[in-house]
Parts: sequence; C-alpha cells; structure tokens
Amino acid sequence: MIAIYPGSFDPITLGHLDIIQRGCRLFDRVIVAVLRNPSKSPLFTVEERIAQIRQSVPHLDNVEVDAFGGLTVEYARIKNAQVILRGLRVLSDFEKELQMAHTNKTLSQEIETVFLATSTEHSFLSSSVVKEIAKFGGSIEHLVPSHVAVEIFRCYAPLPPPPASHPLPLTMD
Ligand code: PNS
Repeated sequence: MIAIYPGSFDPITLGHLDIIQRGCRLFDRVIVAVLRNPSKSPLFTVEERIAQIRQSVPHLDNVEVDAFGGLTVEYARIKNAQVILRGLRVLSDFEKELQMAHTNKTLSQEIETVFLATSTEHSFLSSSVVKEIAKFGGSIEHLVPSHVAVEIFRCYAPLPPPPASHPLPLTMD
C-alpha cells in the first residue's frame, strides 16, 4: 500500500521525520509530498525543502520525496496512493485535520486519511516554532536534522556590516 505524506515542510522537523519513519514501517512506500503553495512566502524554496528531506532519509529505502500543486487527492490518484498520512500532535490539530480528512473524503471515496499520534517528545514541535527560536538565536539542534539546523541559521545570520563609508571630501570655499 502506498501512502502520501503531504505538507509544507518549511523546514522538515524531527517530528515530521518520526512520522515518516513510522509510516515506512506501516506502508510499502511513503511519498513525502511538498506542497507548491504560491500564497505562502516560505523560508526555503520547494527545491531546497526537497533536498533537506532527501538528506534526512538515507536510512529509509521505501521513501520518495516529491513536490505537488493543487489538490492532495488528485496527486494521490496520480501516484496510485490509497492513503494520506498525517501526524496529530495536540487537540487543536484535530479540528483542522478532521475537517481536511472529511473534505478529502468528499473529493475521493477511495483515499483514506490515516493519522499517527506524534511521539510525545515532539508534541510541541512545528516548523514555525523552529523558525521563531532560530530567529532569536536560540538552539534548534534538538528539533531538526543537523544539516537543516545549519541552513536555518544561515538564513537568520546577521548581515555583515556595510563597508565603512569614505570620509566626505573636504570642500574649499
Ligand atoms: O504542513 P501543512 O501546511 O499543515 O500541510 C497542509 C496540506 C499541504 C496537507 C494541505 O494544505 C493540503 O492538502 N493542501 C492541498 C490542497 C487541498 O488538497 N485542499 C483540500 C483539502 S483541505
């Protein structure tokens, strides 16, 4: 059975990785699908996010990483996937996720949404939280794969000071 795991992944966190790893034990193939969403202004491009995810899963041989646009169920159909995989962290996720699952069900009867409860140590974790911490110089190494932490810090690194301006030429009146 093929599952797609759709999301923004801006960037991938250890919580996402946990869902991918556990999904790989349940399904023959997991397709991690990065949504091309023109209405959002992400920190990383879709191509950068795909590269970050690929670099996070070399130990898993039944994962594919891809990008998609439009409806998730349409993409699932194209990929012959029967399942949409999503993680559930806290109660507040549930309302949005249930609405999404119900909406997707009205669009395709054949595709089931399967939720995995996020591991407790990741229940607070989101890409937004990671970016917020990094923006203010906090430590994120325990929240994202190490190569992703390096790339996030590069984004928020303070800009080098502008070159010293030349002294104004003296005017002789
Ligand atoms: O990681 P995110 O941002 O919570 O993922 C949300 C995502 C990509 C799963 C959701 O926005 C989505 O499926 N978008 C594609 C458009 C779609 O299919 N909409 C109908 C279901 S609400």
